[in-house]
This record gives sequence, C-alpha cells and structure tokens, in this order.
Amino acid sequence: MAVDVFDRRLILVVGKGGVGRSTVAAAIAGQCAARGRKTLLFETNANDRFGAYYDRPAVGPKVTELAPNLSAVNTNPATALEEYGLMILRWKSVYEMVFENRVTKAFLRAIPGLDDYALLGKAWYHTTEEKRGKPVWDTVIFDLPASGHSVSMLKIPWVIIDTVPEGPLTRDARTIKDLLCDPARTAAVLVTLAEEMPVNEAVELEGKLSGLGIVPQQIVCNQIYPDHFPEGMPVARVLDTLSGDPRLPTPLGEVTTHAVLSRDRRALNMRYLGELRRRAKTTVKELPMLFTPQLTPAHVRALGERLTRASE
Ligand SMILES: Nc1ncnc2c1ncn2[C@@H]1O[C@H](COP(=O)(O)OP(=O)(O)O)[C@@H](O)[C@H]1O
Ligand SMILES: [Mg+2]
Repeated sequence: MAVDVFDRRLILVVGKGGVGRSTVAAAIAGQCAARGRKTLLFETNANDRFGAYYDRPAVGPKVTELAPNLSAVNTNPATALEEYGLMILRWKSVYEMVFENRVTKAFLRAIPGLDDYALLGKAWYHTTEEKRGKPVWDTVIFDLPASGHSVSMLKIPWVIIDTVPEGPLTRDARTIKDLLCDPARTAAVLVTLAEEMPVNEAVELEGKLSGLGIVPQQIVCNQIYPDHFPEGMPVARVLDTLSGDPRLPTPLGEVTTHAVLSRDRRALNMRYLGELRRRAKTTVKELPMLFTPQLTPAHVRALGERLTRASE
C-alpha cells in the first residue's frame, strides 16, 4: 500500500453501501494474518460475507477462527451492549440488576445512539483484550456500516464527552476517541467506486472523517474495469472497425456492442478515478473488477496482494 496500514491496532473500513467494504476488509485481514498478526474481522450486520470468503459457515456473534491467525465476529447491538455492560460492571449479577431491570432497559433503549456506541465500544474492547499480559489481537478490522451511519457511530464518543457528566462512560469515550484519532494505532481505509455518485460521497466522507480527526490513510477504488482494448493495439483497431459497421450479422453485432460497453465502462472508470485523485487528499489504490459469479478465497487473497503491492 502507498501507506502501509497493516501494522495498526485498529483498521476502520468505511464507504458507501455495496462498494466492497466487506471484501476489502477481508482482503486486508488476509494480508495481516499472512504477516503473522493475530487478526480479528469485526462486523455488525446480519448478512455475513466473511465465512464464505474463507470457505467457512456464516460468522455469528461468537468469535470464530477462519484461518490461521484470522478470526471473525459478527455482532449485534444487544450482544454488544451486554458485553460492554458486563465489562464496565464486571459481574453478571450487577449487570443483570442494572441492565436487565425493566425500567433501566426502557431507559437505555431511549438513549439515541446507544446501540451504535455499544458496537463501537465492543470493537474498541477487542483492541484492548489481553491474555497473560499479551494482546489477544494485533489488529482489529472493523467493517463499518454504510457512510452516513458509520459517521454517526464514530461521532458518539465526541457526543458523550460533550454531554454526559464525568464518569465511567466519559472516561471510556475519551479513550476511544484518542484511539480513533491516533494515526499510529488507527487507520481508516475508505472504499469507493470510480463512478460519479460514489466519488462524490467518498470525497464528502473523507471530509467528515477528517473533521472528527480521523484522517483517512488510504482510499481503495474498487471494481475498476480492465483495459481489454488498449488504445493503438490491434484488438482496439478491430473493435473500432467492427463498431463502425452497422451491417454486421446479429451475433457479431451483439458481441461488438458488449465489447464497446466494456470499453466505455473502462473509460468512465478512468475519468472518475482521475477526478477522485484530483479531489481527495488521501492516496488512491485501485482494485480490479473480477469477473466471477462469486468471489472465492483465492480471489480475496489476490485482491489483498494487490493492496500490498506498490502503486503501478
Ligand atoms: N473487486 C471486485 N470484483 C468483483 N466483485 C466484487 C469486487 N468487490 C466486491 N465484489 C462483490 O460485490 C458485492 C458487494 O461487495 P461487499 O464487499 O459485500 O460490499 P459492502 O460490504 O460495501 O456492502 C459482493 O457480491 C462482492 O463479492
Ligand atoms: Mg458489507
């Protein structure tokens, strides 16, 4: 990577919905694990992708090993809140008294952002977990929800510090905020596509994160169409000739139309990649579109290796 993020304790993977956040998170995780770092993939959505990417069953709320040095957990607000509650209150009986109490439960549910804070708190907790004086995880990779939601989640520590009276909650919020804003320990990786809306959103997200002090350290522009028809090459000249001929027989005409679409797609990707590089402050790394019905572990490894290579 132009900026090497693999040695961080926490890697935040952010971006618009569907651009490939989970795929990039899994690809980075594979590279961290291959470097011998004990790596935890942390996700908070019901539709797990990580299991399939490592040829394993879907990941649930229990930490599960996917490969050597690599585990994953797919948590939800209720589980995260219980774990976080147990962590601050230490004993199950006290936790039950406080959190399982009907009045408290109703009160807690009414606090905006508490669910998100529990998820963020759990991710942070994993970065601090120790066994016999040694960290359990060298790297926690947080596959965050889509753009807007992730910003409001990451913002919560600031809100708590500003609004809640001093106590255990503000103490943790300050620790989490310090971790998020420390580029030596935390790297934000912003995933996007080389298309108009995703580029606009990526630039906007970069600004919002920087505003919080979480300066993105890498942008990954995913699903770039390959250059099947490089300019000046014989194959491009053949396409130019064919696409200029309106009398082509049907099958050849159809193939030509698809080839032209693919070339146009590549041109569009290049245009928006250029725009992204002009407008964003963060360095941009490209990942290719892989033409396959389903990404396999080998694909995910290949994408990870592309990320570790120096820019071409
Ligand atoms: N570079 C790529 N080439 C081909 N398919 C990809 C690539 N990146 C992601 N995908 C596929 O695109 C879909 C969305 O990716 P995903 O990582 O789940 O996005 P997100 O987590 O941002 O919602 C998935 O089916 C995934 O396998
Ligand atoms: Mg995802």
